[in-house]
Amino acid sequence: MITITNIHKTFNRGKANQVNAVNGLDLVINDEEFVVIVGSNGSGKTTLLNLISGSLLPSSGTIDINGDDVTKLADYQRSKWIARVFQNPMSGTASELSILDNFRLAAIRTKVKGLTIGINDAFKQQVKQKIATLGMGLENKIDQPMGTLSGGQRQALTLLMSVMDECKILLLDEPTAALDPRSAEVVMSTADKLSKEFKLTTILVTHNLKDAYNYGTRIIQMAEGAIIKDFAAKQKEHLKQNDLFEWFG
Ligand SMILES: Nc1ncnc2c1ncn2[C@@H]1O[C@H](COP(=O)(O)OP(=O)(O)O)[C@@H](O)[C@H]1O
Ligand SMILES: [Mg+2]
Repeated sequence: MITITNIHKTFNRGKANQVNAVNGLDLVINDEEFVVIVGSNGSGKTTLLNLISGSLLPSSGTIDINGDDVTKLADYQRSKWIARVFQNPMSGTASELSILDNFRLAAIRTKVKGLTIGINDAFKQQVKQKIATLGMGLENKIDQPMGTLSGGQRQALTLLMSVMDECKILLLDEPTAALDPRSAEVVMSTADKLSKEFKLTTILVTHNLKDAYNYGTRIIQMAEGAIIKDFAAKQKEHLKQNDLFEWFG
């Protein structure tokens, strides 16, 4: 469970360009929830994810993960709980390295579930098996440099790597924004599948209303650093796509 209490993040405090990016926000997210966050540009969505991951520390307020107060922990101290996928497909993996070597790196960096680190065939077979579950045929390309893959393929692999370690929280900040519609769909359905399979608590920031409608168990709308709407699973089922369009229009 993630418990965020009265959190504030102010940039450039006291200067002419002061911004209250997150402004007294309260939010409780239960285990295995899939929360979709929407809101106009500059409403504080990315700042909120940065506060949860520890990339930014709050100006005030507290963040608690599974009963541990993580408010003052740096991002690397939270990485055992949290995995992140960014908008840019390039930021998740190393281009020059092969798919296999990227998995090896991921396995070394974290304790990856069901992977024993090594250069042996067993490791290779395990990676192939995992990749095959994406259904993209990439298991036959594991010696190919990551840089030769499409953005969608890279995002799907980044997702797979990040959820295979012991993390329980998956943060997705517009993971499909840089992708064509078909790749975007593959990445979103992969995210959905993996979050169910690994019983993750997932937070997705998206500008895509269709995704906001199709995925997740809860939708939150942010404006000016605060939550202005919050629909839980049951209510979401009753929302019609048109309601959403009106809502966000
Ligand atoms: N590092 C920063 N320094 C100064 N202002 C920032 C910084 N990061 C974000 N902001 C400002 O905070 C507000 C919220 O930004 P952000 O969280 O990126 O919004 P969103 O992701 O919803 O588009 C914006 O006004 C943005 O310009
Ligand atoms: Mg953003």
